[in-house]
Amino acid sequence: MTEVIAHRGYSAKFPENTMIAFHEAEYANADGIELDVQLSKDGEVVVIHDEKLNRTTSGKGYVKDFTLQELKKLDAGVLFPNLSEKQTIPTLEEVFAWLATNTLICNVELKNGVFRYEGMEEKVIKLIRQYDLSKRTIISSFNHYSIVHCYRLAPEVEIAPLLSEGLYMPWIYAASIRAKGFHPRYSAVPNEVISLSLESGIAVRPYTVNKEVEMERLFQINCTAFITDDPTIAVKLRDKY
Ligand code: G3P
Ligand code: CA
Repeated sequence: MTEVIAHRGYSAKFPENTMIAFHEAEYANADGIELDVQLSKDGEVVVIHDEKLNRTTSGKGYVKDFTLQELKKLDAGVLFPNLSEKQTIPTLEEVFAWLATNTLICNVELKNGVFRYEGMEEKVIKLIRQYDLSKRTIISSFNHYSIVHCYRLAPEVEIAPLLSEGLYMPWIYAASIRAKGFHPRYSAVPNEVISLSLESGIAVRPYTVNKEVEMERLFQINCTAFITDDPTIAVKLRDKY
């Protein structure tokens, strides 16, 4: 059965990368959540997509220039101003403490491409082990050196390269860096590539799949999973298969 992973939580209807978006993904029966991490000035792993605070919070400037205490004062729900409950930027530890109470899969995307966050991999691995989430966490990144570093630190945790462009044989590439799967842009992965990857034992989890016709394609081919902003639509559609 193709798993449904909620992109930045249930980000179609709730502020991305906040606790309410993760809780709502669980209520929507998603199989897992995807989230993005950066490092604060004082080295905390925080859950936010952009390097800058400007788009999704009440703050301005780079995440890396603020301490956790400063970041916690910001409103992380500005994209959904009608929401009654105030949202803050979660730490990865807060999300993991919640994940330890359920069975959801967690795809942690390391956002260490623009800035090279020193020690990010070690911190993420430490938290995964602390919360005993090794078996249901997948670490992904567009920075493939970073996920290979994670594999060296913790071979028990699955890694998956993010691929924005189509490769002829991404399953060979994934296997060559010890990844058990890869996460391609959905439009860059034809059915033939998905089938050959699955036959080779390599998982495929395309992002960010919001068109129903694309969801249907992936359900029909029994793709491993896909990452979507709207888990409700995806789960409902899956009932047909
Ligand atoms: O997981 C894939 C997807 O999240 C990568 O793109 O920009 O939404 O983090 P982005
Ligand atoms: Ca992401």
